[in-house]
Amino acid sequence: MQTSEVVLDQADGLRRIVNAKPVKVIAVSSGKGGVGKTNISVNLSVALAKMNREVMLMDADLGLANVDVLLGLNPSYDLSHVISGERTLEEVVVEGPANLKIIPASSGVSRMANLQPMEQAGLIQAFSELGYALDVLVVDTGAGISGNVVNFCSAAQEVIVVVCDEPASITDAYAFIKVMSREHDVDRFQILANMSHTSSEGREMFHKLSTATERFLDVMLTFMGSIPYDPRLRKAVQHQRAIVEAFPRSPAALAITRLAKQVDAWPDNAGSGGQLEFFIERLVNADTDMSEAKL
Ligand SMILES: Nc1ncnc2c1ncn2[C@@H]1O[C@H](COP(=O)(O)OP(=O)(O)OP(=O)(O)O)[C@@H](O)[C@H]1O
Ligand SMILES: [Mg+2]
Repeated sequence: MQTSEVVLDQADGLRRIVNAKPVKVIAVSSGKGGVGKTNISVNLSVALAKMNREVMLMDADLGLANVDVLLGLNPSYDLSHVISGERTLEEVVVEGPANLKIIPASSGVSRMANLQPMEQAGLIQAFSELGYALDVLVVDTGAGISGNVVNFCSAAQEVIVVVCDEPASITDAYAFIKVMSREHDVDRFQILANMSHTSSEGREMFHKLSTATERFLDVMLTFMGSIPYDPRLRKAVQHQRAIVEAFPRSPAALAITRLAKQVDAWPDNAGSGGQLEFFIERLVNADTDMSEAKL
């Protein structure tokens, strides 16, 4: 064997060891649009990264205020370039605050369940060859119950459902949980109240939602607490910065940091299927139609 082959062989072996590690995959969803999913995904990711976790944030929504806009990034490439084989995953990933890795939004995301077998294999390999060991992958999904959202949530280990104090938010969250449980066998949801105005508002929302699910659905909801309504968050958005970086002592930043500690304490998905490549495999093999049907 030539020296260069030995080096390549060692690098390959190292990558395999690195990627044998289980990764917590967390999908952030809601049913209703505009409740704060993207801001929570970004800030939760940055807060975890600040705790020295290796974090990747995947933007699975092509909406307007997406992750790169919130963080003032200008990505040149996206997952569609990985799927076409033009770029490696490392070339597509952009760096955010605190060493956070971001996969920018792309039309490639909505194609993920409709790939040709060769493209599927290429994408799974791209993720399995990622040169660093992730602790957490956060996925910011779009609103509604499109095939895209459903697939990301079914393939993830945990689903955070963001709700706010509007009747439509509770009914849409209920509709989302119903579809995920009845049609996709997801029976565990983490409920997070956002933009709450009083300390009891979040728990009251959780109570309303869990009363309805207990009556009609076979699911387990956990209350993750509330993120207060905070004008500083809008200010941070205007400056294209994460609030946990720009205003770390503000009420919303403190609440998101507490949320990050809760997430960090979740057990690793150490069983089979916990590795990153298996998440991608579940995603590309999903048989749901990725049509963009909204609620
Ligand atoms: N805790 C908060 N305090 C104040 N404003 C907030 C808070 N959370 C979110 N917002 C504001 O609410 C708006 C919607 O937030 P965001 O874009 O994160 O929602 P989304 O659920 O991702 O929306 P979409 O469904 O369109 O993807 C933004 O203007 C954001 O600044
Ligand atoms: Mg969003």
